[in-house]
Amino acid sequence: MSDSPRHRMRRLRRTPALRAMRRETRLTPDDLIYPLFIDELKERAGPISSMPGVQRHTLDTLASEIEHVAAAGLRSVLLFGIPAEKDARGSGAFAEDGIIPKAIRRIREVNDEVVVIADVCLCEYTDHGHCGIPREETIDNDATLELIAKAAVAYAQAGAHLVAPSGMMDGMVGAIRSALDGRDCRDVGFLSYAVKYASSFYGPFRDAADCAPKFGDRKTYQMDPANVREALAEARLDVEEGADMLMVKPALPYLDVIQRVRDAFPEMPLAAYQVSGEYSMIQAAAQQGWLDLRAVALESLISIKRAGADMIISYFAKDAARWLRG
Ligand code: PBG
Repeated sequence: MSDSPRHRMRRLRRTPALRAMRRETRLTPDDLIYPLFIDELKERAGPISSMPGVQRHTLDTLASEIEHVAAAGLRSVLLFGIPAEKDARGSGAFAEDGIIPKAIRRIREVNDEVVVIADVCLCEYTDHGHCGIPREETIDNDATLELIAKAAVAYAQAGAHLVAPSGMMDGMVGAIRSALDGRDCRDVGFLSYAVKYASSFYGPFRDAADCAPKFGDRKTYQMDPANVREALAEARLDVEEGADMLMVKPALPYLDVIQRVRDAFPEMPLAAYQVSGEYSMIQAAAQQGWLDLRAVALESLISIKRAGADMIISYFAKDAARWLRG
């Protein structure tokens, strides 16, 4: 039997317990962050057709949703607001009594343990759908910084633990850090969307938040999907400006980017955002009976972790937490 293989990798795959012992990556509910949409208009709340299983909440349904989130075993949420009315400057984003400050206060009232992360961007609040103030052919970066800094202060003062600027404005982390420090919000941290691509996978989110740009696209401020060295520069700038955590977005089509950012910044907590299009593709295939929803969702999440993410923002978070626990 001299040609019998000496090494047989299958020896450690024979039973569930052996496979568990051999397992290199683990996914737990602590790793998952659940995005929530909160609509200021009750009439618009309800299911989002392009994102099966995801709802637009109101302040009223938010309280019970937070209980469900906590009961599922999740410990953090990421908030997106949809204002009753949009305008050119996105005033609803930085109003002190806007939908997000109200939602943050409501959550902190009903459950003081869940980590509240507030997305900071103008696109859900502007009538043109851009993440900043348009000027001629582009977006006025520095004028936008002032507005998103105001928004971040409003969310911090309402009780957010972390702010998550997602608009890809240059200098946004530094500008918001100074504004927070100046208003005595030094302990409010950053989950920065450091590496965010101009991706077509955001389609269903733009339906959900009604924030598709009315003219042009986001390519003058979001990253080119062809680039990865540029991602390292984006991440480095955010670290220098004071980010507490970094993020890569989208996730599954950008696993190489997650790995490169992980390797370049081993000291930084790293999140990845499994975006709406990634979620809806799996849901659609499962509805056709072509893929097993639970198995594919969990496989995609473990793959994102294996690539190097510490945390994953995912619309599957609530279901996944339940699946993982039981
Ligand atoms: C807005 C924002 C977007 C997403 C998160 N924040 C949309 C965009 O940039 O066009 C997308 C999230 C998703 O697709 O799930 N700044």
